[in-house]
Amino acid sequence: MIVTLTPNPSLDRAYELPSLDRGAVLRATRDRVDPGGKGVNVSRAVAAAGHRTVAVVPLGGPEGALLARLLGEHGIEAAGVPVAGSTRVNITLVEPDSTLTKVNAAGPELSAAEAEALLEAVRARAAGADWIACCGSLPRGLGPEWYAQLVARAHRAGLRVALDTSGSALGATLAEEPDVVKPNAEELAEAVGRPIATVGEAVKAAGELRERGARAVLASLGADGQLLVDATGTWFGHAGPVAVRSNVGAGDASLAGFLAAGGRGPAALAAAVAHGTAAVQLPGSVMPTPADLVPDAVTVTDAVPTDRPLAEPVR
Ligand SMILES: Nc1ncnc2c1ncn2[C@@H]1O[C@H](COP(=O)(O)OP(=O)(O)OP(=O)(O)O)[C@@H](O)[C@H]1O
Ligand SMILES: [Mg+2]
Repeated sequence: MIVTLTPNPSLDRAYELPSLDRGAVLRATRDRVDPGGKGVNVSRAVAAAGHRTVAVVPLGGPEGALLARLLGEHGIEAAGVPVAGSTRVNITLVEPDSTLTKVNAAGPELSAAEAEALLEAVRARAAGADWIACCGSLPRGLGPEWYAQLVARAHRAGLRVALDTSGSALGATLAEEPDVVKPNAEELAEAVGRPIATVGEAVKAAGELRERGARAVLASLGADGQLLVDATGTWFGHAGPVAVRSNVGAGDASLAGFLAAGGRGPAALAAAVAHGTAAVQLPGSVMPTPADLVPDAVTVTDAVPTDRPLAEPVR
């Protein structure tokens, strides 16, 4: 069972438009609403993989009630923490050529009592969980060290934590030794404060995050695949080229695959790559089911191609 925590979840509303004209009244040809947020995506992928998952989310206002209902429809148990503010609505405008324009709201500010209630909800639901996956940015009201508190409490309770966040929320948590962190290339470059243009530079940066405390680093490198660096070694996993429909949520699908496959070692890395590769071939943020996975297309090696330039270098 995997518990996810999304401190700033959203209702994701997508409008498909014939064209995007500034200053005009735009008429959507289709619209849909999905439960959103990185931990929510991980829960959706874990559920799609056939495992049990509980999504801990603050919920506020009618938007929060709708989010809880949508999670239920996706087969996800929601552990909602009532908050005074309203759950945010994020808007995506989809053009016919699949260009996405996004408008993300800030989301509600959480009070100190609400922040504590969120930690308590994780504690209450995490007994017996294989992993707690903490994902995404922190809402207003929660300082950058908030995830560090969560990791410290989880470790005292004997639980393992995966962390997928960026910037100061990531930096401030490393010293508490999260069991795995999942930066993408851009987040990795930001964390070490220098560009990453090759697989070797990503390995070096991942090693630095381990020196700062992370027990393992699962670094996703977009089309180039993924790296796993832990106390026992470094592995590189990738799959052949595929037709990409949408990379939205591919990292979240990868983390779900990694955790559902045990969350350590080369076999879990292979599952992460299989899930990411399947996710990019599906529309929007649709998460892969076991039928979408092609495990045989994934190669994992400890002969890391350090000189390989990244298809999307981070400058
Ligand atoms: N263009 C691509 N071609 C093939 N596979 C891809 C591509 N982009 C992503 N993937 C697969 O998905 C994984 C995760 O992608 P990426 O590194 O973009 O995650 P991310 O930036 O964290 O995504 P998000 O946070 O939106 O979920 C990659 O490691 C890879 O396995
Ligand atoms: Mg990501």
